[in-house]
Amino acid sequence: MVFGVVDPERFLKDLDSLRGFGASGFGKGVVRPSYSDADIAARRWLAGQMADAGLSVEVDPMGNLFGLAEGASLLVGSHSDSQPEGGWLDGALGVIAGLEIARACKAAGGPPVSVVSFQDEEGRFGVTTGSAVWSGKMTQAEADVLIDHTGTSVAAARAAMADMVTSVVDPERFTGFLEMHIEQGPTLDAAGEKIGVVTDIVGIRDMKITFEGQQNHAGTTPMHLRRDAFQAVSAFNTRLNDRFRNVVTPQTVWTIGHVSLHPNASSIVPGRAEFSMQWRDADSERLLRMEGIIRDTVQETARAGGFSASYGPMLGLEPVAMDARMQDALCDASEQMSPGRWRRMPSGALHDATNVSELMPVAMLFVPSIDGISHAFEEDTKPEDLVTGLHVLARAVDRLARG
Ligand code: GLV
Ligand code: MN
Ligand code: MN
Repeated sequence: MVFGVVDPERFLKDLDSLRGFGASGFGKGVVRPSYSDADIAARRWLAGQMADAGLSVEVDPMGNLFGLAEGASLLVGSHSDSQPEGGWLDGALGVIAGLEIARACKAAGGPPVSVVSFQDEEGRFGVTTGSAVWSGKMTQAEADVLIDHTGTSVAAARAAMADMVTSVVDPERFTGFLEMHIEQGPTLDAAGEKIGVVTDIVGIRDMKITFEGQQNHAGTTPMHLRRDAFQAVSAFNTRLNDRFRNVVTPQTVWTIGHVSLHPNASSIVPGRAEFSMQWRDADSERLLRMEGIIRDTVQETARAGGFSASYGPMLGLEPVAMDARMQDALCDASEQMSPGRWRRMPSGALHDATNVSELMPVAMLFVPSIDGISHAFEEDTKPEDLVTGLHVLARAVDRLARG
């Protein structure tokens, strides 16, 4: 039985150690984007922990890090890269929980559990890039040409950890994938509940859009003669919010999170604006309709103001349902650990589990996020809630091993 062997203190201490890689200096926040020095140092430390736990370490060319148990095993984990300004638990929690469970399973003489930390889940380059390549959704060559906001490619970035690479891990060796994560939203915290058993993960679309106008002098160019690329973004956004009204539900979300103006100077009318357009929903049809509206609105904005418009590659993930049997194991474990204080719920955040579901049965559990804050330095969860999550995971692993 793994449940009696997991060590909550060791788990909390390891979580804190991982936070040390890229600690931001603001609260518990971290700055550990994929392939940064902090990310690679964290992966080296994790590899050492996996080896110490008696797991055999493999790193694939994308930088996905595995600690493998012998023979067929359950895979448990998440990602250890962060957003440009990230919290200490997003991804890290699932990786360290996997490490603790795998270590406890070794000590208990089974069941065999392997651990993973996927690379670039946070999408410096794409959308869950590491697990997308591992699952076969995207080839390494397709991933290699993706670029971040500074123009660096995956191929150039991953060269920084080339010395760690061993080989690609065959997914056939795993019987299923369990991912523990913080909720990253307000539901559990507001309800005073301890665990969310994930039913589905929403779908996402993400692409870059560029408006080109005319760079010019900000003092001498009359307003009616300007082709100001920032004004194009602003007009597009206003039109889009209006047009989405009849299509979206209260659960649909869309975000312009990154805008880059050229040349980005106070006294120059910007000639080019490149921005990210991301939208998420549980219904693929709606995602498609939203794409149509976005493209129509871009074209209309371009025509109205004399801009040219172009698009980057369309990235995305379809909505997916979690495996019923694995969900049941998590529900039973939740009821044992926190009777009446857990719920089934969808995930509005993306997770590697979406890609892994192409390969094997997957399931996820959430623990509460204080005030629902994530993708921010303030992200946090009470230690007792982290430990409850670990115990639910351990009980679910025991239950799945019984068959
Ligand atoms: C992943 O962190 C996401 O953007 O949901
Ligand atoms: Mn995450
Ligand atoms: Mn995240």
